[in-house]
Amino acid sequence: MADVLIRQANINDVDAIFEIEHLCFPDPWSKDSLRYELGENPRAFYIVAEIDGSVVGYAGLWWIEDEGHITNVAVRPGYRSRKIASGIVSVMIDFTTKQGIRHHTLEVRRSNAPAIGLYEKYGFTVEGVRKGYYLNNGEDALIMWRHEPESCDE
Ligand SMILES: CC(C)(COP(=O)(O)OP(=O)(O)OC[C@H]1O[C@@H](n2cnc3c(N)ncnc32)[C@H](O)[C@@H]1OP(=O)(O)O)[C@@H](O)C(=O)NCCC(=O)NCCS
Repeated sequence: MADVLIRQANINDVDAIFEIEHLCFPDPWSKDSLRYELGENPRAFYIVAEIDGSVVGYAGLWWIEDEGHITNVAVRPGYRSRKIASGIVSVMIDFTTKQGIRHHTLEVRRSNAPAIGLYEKYGFTVEGVRKGYYLNNGEDALIMWRHEPESCDE
């Protein structure tokens, strides 16, 4: 397989992320929202995975004090099960932890086994449920958290 480049996203990635949003979610973000996220929102941090110059996956996070709220993670359908999301999530967690985030959280559909498996692999556990959270089908959201262990030299 061609090399996967994982890098911080920028405003030039809006179109590619918009396309993946549409391929992956019933309620995709609008281009205007993505432009705000990538161009203006000082709390937003996005990462993309690129193969041969094309963006094939991404993740976003909102930085709120020492918490990182993961907004979305998605990989283009034809590129799944190649550890691309694993690469994105591990880089996201490593980088933001080094910058001071101690707690990562996200919401995921109760039926989304691939995503739940991905997050569990990186230490997330279910700490709550939002009943009927998703508007398109009334599905519950699981609230998952990952807490960075206290370091010994503190
Ligand atoms: C969830 C998603 C991002 C995973 O991307 P991916 O690049 O295929 O994931 P990876 O190959 O890195 O797999 C990572 C882990 O996820 C889990 N996983 C991935 N695909 C899976 C599947 N089809 N069934 C069960 N678990 C799966 C496994 O735990 C896997 O670890 P392993 O390979 O060591 O067993 C991808 O399926 C996707 O884009 N789904 C649609 C968008 C979405 O639902 N995003 C999450 C919103 S909260």
